[in-house]
Amino acid sequence: MKKILVTGGCGYIGSHTIVDLIENGFSVISVDNNSRSNPEILKGIEKITGVLIKNYCVDLCIFDDTHAIFQENPDISGIIHFAAYKAVGESVQHPMMYFENNINSLINILKCASEFQIPHFVFSSSCTVYGNPEQVPVTENTPFQHAESPYGYTKQIGEEMVRYSSDSTNMKSVLLRYFNPVGAHPSCAIGELPLGKPANLVPAITQTAIGKLPEMTVFGDDYPTHDGSCIRDYIHVSDIAHAHTLALKFLESSHKKLNIYNLGSGNGFSVLEVIKMFEEVSNKKLNYKIGSRRPGDVIAIYANNDNAKNDLKWNCKYDLRDMMKTAWDWELKLYNDTSPMLKNISHN
Ligand code: WQD
Repeated sequence: MKKILVTGGCGYIGSHTIVDLIENGFSVISVDNNSRSNPEILKGIEKITGVLIKNYCVDLCIFDDTHAIFQENPDISGIIHFAAYKAVGESVQHPMMYFENNINSLINILKCASEFQIPHFVFSSSCTVYGNPEQVPVTENTPFQHAESPYGYTKQIGEEMVRYSSDSTNMKSVLLRYFNPVGAHPSCAIGELPLGKPANLVPAITQTAIGKLPEMTVFGDDYPTHDGSCIRDYIHVSDIAHAHTLALKFLESSHKKLNIYNLGSGNGFSVLEVIKMFEEVSNKKLNYKIGSRRPGDVIAIYANNDNAKNDLKWNCKYDLRDMMKTAWDWELKLYNDTSPMLKNISHN
C-alpha cells in the first residue's frame, strides 16, 4: 500500500483528500501544526473511512522537525503539499507573514523530498497565479499577470520552486491550480472550519444564514460583469480531493517531470448568483449588504479544465446546487451537533 505524506492534512482540502486517498487504497500520514486547523477533524475522517490518521503536529518552517518525519517514514512514496496560508484579503494586510510561512515551509519540504528521493509530488496551487486574466476561461498556458495579492504571488513562486526541484531530481510533479473550493463531504462528517470570522464567500454566507454572523457584505457590485459582482469558478471540495488521487496515479506512468492542471468546474458564477442559489437551496433569505471592493480581488476568472479531464480522467460530480446544499448541511450540523468533537472546534 503506497504511503502518502499530506501536509496540511487537518485543513479543509487536505482532510477531504485524505478521505479520497484512503478510499482509493493509499495509506496516509499527515503533518499539520494546527495553526489554522483543528486535529478534531481526524475523527471525522475516521468516521467516514474507519481509519484514524496519524498527524505530526509540526511547523514545516522548522527544517529539523520536518526532516525527522521523513527519517521516521522511509516508505513515503508521494507528497501532497497543502500547508499554506490562503486568504487573499489577509495576505494583502500581512504580506511578510505569507511569504515567511508559505515559502519557508515549501523550501523545507522540497529539500527533504530531494534528500529522501521522493518520486511523486503534488503541489496545491491556485487560480490566483493568473492574476486578472485578459480573457476567460483560462487554460494552463494563459500567461500570468500580476498576482493581485501576496497569497497569489506565493503560489507563482511556489510553482517555479517545484519546477526547478523536479528538473534537478528524479521527482515527477503535478501542479493543481484550484479555483474556488466550496461545500462539504456529503456525509457531513467533515467540512470547512474557518477559525474566526470567515474570509471566504461560502462560509460567510452559511454563518450569516445560521445566525453566527449578523449580516454579510458583498465586496463590490460595480465591477464590469453582468451583475456588477465578481465572477469565480466554484468547485466542490470532494471533486478537488479526487483530482489529487488521480494525479498520484497519473504520475506513476507520466514521462513528463512537471504536469499542470486547472481544477475548476469550467463555469463562472457571480457572488450574487451564488447567494441566489444558496437562498433557493436553504429556503432562507440571506441578510447581506453591498460594500466596497476588497483589495486583491480579481474581477472574473473561471477555468478551461480540458487537460485535467483528458490526462487525469477527472470529471466534476457536483454542481453549484450540490455545493450550496452540502455547505448548508454542514453548517446546520455544526450548529446542532452536541458531540464533543465538533463542540471543541473553535469556529465561531
Ligand atoms: C470569492 C468572491 C469576494 C467574502 C479563494 C481562496 C484562494 C483560492 C482562490 C485556492 C470574491 C467575494 C467574499 C465575503 C464577498 N483558492 N466575497 N463577501 O478570494 O476568490 O480566493 O479562491 O487556492 O485560496 O481564498 O475567494 O471566497 O474569498 O471570494 O463578497 O464575505 O466572494 O470579494 O469576489 P477568492 P473568496
